[in-house]
Amino acid sequence: MMRSTSLLLPLFSGLAAATLICRPEGPVLPKPALQDTPAIKDAAASLTKTLDAAVSGAIKAGWPVENVSFSLAVISKDQKDPGVPLWEYHHLATNNVIGTKKLDRDSQYLIGSVSKVISDYILLKSGVDINTPVTKYLSELKDSPSRIRWEDVTLKMLASQLSGAPTNYGFSEFYYLKEVFLATASIPNSRTISYQVLTIALDFLKGMTKSYPVVAPMERPAYSNIAYTILVMAIEEATGKNYTQLVENIVAKPLDLQNTVPSPGDDKRAVIPPGDSGWGADYGYNAPGGGLVSSLGDLSKFAHAIMTRSIDLTPTQVRQWLKPQAYSGGFSAVGMPWEIFRPHNLTPKHPHPVTIFVVDEYGLSLVVLTAGPMNAVTFLTDAILGTFVPAADEASRAQAKKEYARTFKSGCAKNNTSMIDVSFDLDNHSLVISSIRRNGSDILAAMTKIWSMTMGQFTSNFGSTVRLFPADLDEKTTLHGKPVTSEVWRLWPEFASIGESDLPRSGTLMDDCVMWTLGDWVHYGGEPMDRVLFYRDGDGHVVGFEAPFLRSGILQLAKNISD
Ligand SMILES: *[C@@H]1O[C@H](CO)[C@@H](O)[C@H](O)[C@H]1NC(C)=O
Ligand SMILES: *[C@@H]1O[C@H](CO)[C@@H](O)[C@H](O)[C@H]1NC(C)=O
Ligand SMILES: *[C@@H]1O[C@H](CO)[C@@H](O)[C@H](O)[C@H]1NC(C)=O
Ligand SMILES: *[C@@H]1O[C@H](CO)[C@@H](O)[C@H](O)[C@H]1NC(C)=O
Ligand SMILES: *[C@@H]1O[C@H](CO)[C@@H](O)[C@H](O)[C@H]1NC(C)=O
Ligand SMILES: *[C@@H]1O[C@H](CO)[C@@H](O)[C@H](O)[C@H]1NC(C)=O
Repeated sequence: MMRSTSLLLPLFSGLAAATLICRPEGPVLPKPALQDTPAIKDAAASLTKTLDAAVSGAIKAGWPVENVSFSLAVISKDQKDPGVPLWEYHHLATNNVIGTKKLDRDSQYLIGSVSKVISDYILLKSGVDINTPVTKYLSELKDSPSRIRWEDVTLKMLASQLSGAPTNYGFSEFYYLKEVFLATASIPNSRTISYQVLTIALDFLKGMTKSYPVVAPMERPAYSNIAYTILVMAIEEATGKNYTQLVENIVAKPLDLQNTVPSPGDDKRAVIPPGDSGWGADYGYNAPGGGLVSSLGDLSKFAHAIMTRSIDLTPTQVRQWLKPQAYSGGFSAVGMPWEIFRPHNLTPKHPHPVTIFVVDEYGLSLVVLTAGPMNAVTFLTDAILGTFVPAADEASRAQAKKEYARTFKSGCAKNNTSMIDVSFDLDNHSLVISSIRRNGSDILAAMTKIWSMTMGQFTSNFGSTVRLFPADLDEKTTLHGKPVTSEVWRLWPEFASIGESDLPRSGTLMDDCVMWTLGDWVHYGGEPMDRVLFYRDGDGHVVGFEAPFLRSGILQLAKNISD
């Protein structure tokens, strides 16, 4: 049996656990340039070597390497060609005797549930209002008495695993295929299931009114393949286009994808494992939830377009798309349709929760495609995450240290009594302000005092540590006649201890990272006290800093100022 999967991983961090600091959701340091970074080069060389050892049998892989073909990639926001990953690794298993003889980034895999990502992108691009009840387009769902209150279910709920719809209808994505293939003499390229899929489709909507909901709509996430069948039926009804056309017109053509189509794909380019396999099947109405074919190169282009915001959505829509919609248990969450988890120990040198979705904190995406037994996916995903995320974290820290953790000064005479100088440092968590001085006096201490006086009532006084985080608000402007980009950052003062109490469970609330509620409260002369700007030149180097609330003007790097 074949199974392919792929994770597109955007990374966010946040939510403090007891031993972690309170940090905001989202990137903490600027997204690093990864392409030529030593940490990433070392990570790539080391993982390539380890994987060579695993597939040659020199070390234990944990899965039957002779049966599992795979393609892995790390996609970086700054890679030069969207379709050529920063790093890739392919292994064609010796037992894969049918299908492609040359496994590369154009080889076709069944991508299983990653199809849902493409289907949700189609929804976002379809022009259909995602908050519309599904019954507007599929009136059959409301015509007869139904166990599921379909009129309460919106397209967005279907797209985010929050509709309560059954997981499958009469079969499951994979068990179903297995049974059919067993019944039809295990011919890997069999297309005999199309007829059955069609028959099922005819009765499908009627069946949906007779099915039990798994949970009430919006109660909690319940994984559903059939939700995507219903979703795409509604989009087909609204747009007059079928799924094949939607994939082609909305996704494949605009992004220049060569291998992304509803199954069946091209046998000659296919990665087909030995034994029973879903390759070659027509998934019919199940294609939107799990029946697309794609390639590493295509998924690289898709992930790159998301990370660079060049996909055909506004940057705000992309950011909105990359947000969780509900908790799914523990530190995991579900988005549209992202399966999100938040390990705390992925960056052991500088521990913080990294939220793995598709990719964002480091401008990094990872794709794992496999054909064969599924346990390979777990081992390979662990390996690629554990190798590249710490390397990207190191790269972002190295960049922050080199470019941002510096001193900036007024560009004028030393004896100017209004002279301001500001210094930054990088600690184990983020950039911090080490000092802000005007004419020698300690402005940073004054700011901490003002924050404590104005917002201390919410929790406690503020300590002397003031962190800062980028706001993803970049603008093109000029500095001394040269084009530069201004970046808005927000300050994030840290609370000091609130003291102790003998009341029960004292201290629990300290783990609640409430600082995100306290931004932008204090303004001075019309300027927020926590809003500052860095300026970067055309090569990405930081050349200036400004604190508008101090009327600082644009300060220059101290080393560039001749006194
Ligand atoms: C989708 O529509 C196109 C154009 O009408 C048609 O050629 C194609 O057969 C349809 N595909 C499916 C799966 O219905
Ligand atoms: C590899 O696949 C073949 C065909 O499905 C199977 O018979 C064999 O047991 C598999 N080998 C291992 C080590 O799992
Ligand atoms: C920073 O991290 C390093 C490595 O984990 C650790 O040894 C050091 O004590 C940390 N520093 C602070 C101030 O926490
Ligand atoms: C003194 O520094 C302030 C603040 O940077 C600046 O606005 C002002 O022009 C400077 N004055 C002189 C005489 O250089
Ligand atoms: C600042 O110092 C320069 C010489 O370094 C001097 O010419 C100038 O008058 C001084 N300005 C003030 C305001 O003291
Ligand atoms: C700067 O500091 C000097 C010495 O403390 C003081 O005399 C002067 O008034 C200060 N200037 C301003 C603008 O605060």
